[in-house]
Amino acid sequence: MKILMDGSDADVFRQLNEYLPLDGVTTNPSILAKGKGTAEEQVLQLADLLDKQQTLHVQVVSSKYERMIEEAKRISEALSRDVFIKIPVSPDGLKAVRSLSEEGIRTTVTGVYTTMQAVMAAKAGAAYIAPYINRIDLAHGDSEIVISQIVQTYRTYGFSTKVLAASFKNTRQVISVMEAGVEEVTLSTDILKNLIHHKETEKSMEAFTEDFASRFENRNEMF
Ligand code: E4P
Repeated sequence: MKILMDGSDADVFRQLNEYLPLDGVTTNPSILAKGKGTAEEQVLQLADLLDKQQTLHVQVVSSKYERMIEEAKRISEALSRDVFIKIPVSPDGLKAVRSLSEEGIRTTVTGVYTTMQAVMAAKAGAAYIAPYINRIDLAHGDSEIVISQIVQTYRTYGFSTKVLAASFKNTRQVISVMEAGVEEVTLSTDILKNLIHHKETEKSMEAFTEDFASRFENRNEMF
């Protein structure tokens, strides 16, 4: 099970990664548009920060086949590390996925809302697919059904494409895709911060500290 940050702020990643063992970063054009500095600067900072085991997924902005191929190559060449190129699931996108995969450039097919989009992306040679959990539900789909169909279909037919579930609005949705057997999830910084936070945990710890101090002369440490 891998957990990635869906964002672009290298400082935020550094802070979160101090206590959350993160497995990488995904970003998209909207996230970069809200970030500090140019898009290139944000991506280069992330590329420098991540270690070899952590993966980086960077999305092309172009929507036409030739431009996507050129953009994917420019991104790959600019980064001195492995990168997965996020490509939208569209006719031009899947054509680009096939060409890039033949050239050894690994792709993450993004914007997946249906099981058949996931199947066609896998057949085209995608290393990952990114189904949009909350957006599926907002579009009157059922993300739980879509995710379990994708996981089951990939298992049945032996596709090596991995599922990197994206677009979450709460931890309940995250647990639900974990139960379905999804290998990786990418989460906004708000959700990441909430993963281990619980008011009752804090209250319990405060009570331990108070009980100890009242019995042992206001000490707040042992030995
Ligand atoms: C990741 O690949 C997607 O770009 C992202 O998770 C979309 O999330 P959102 O629906 O919260 O914008």
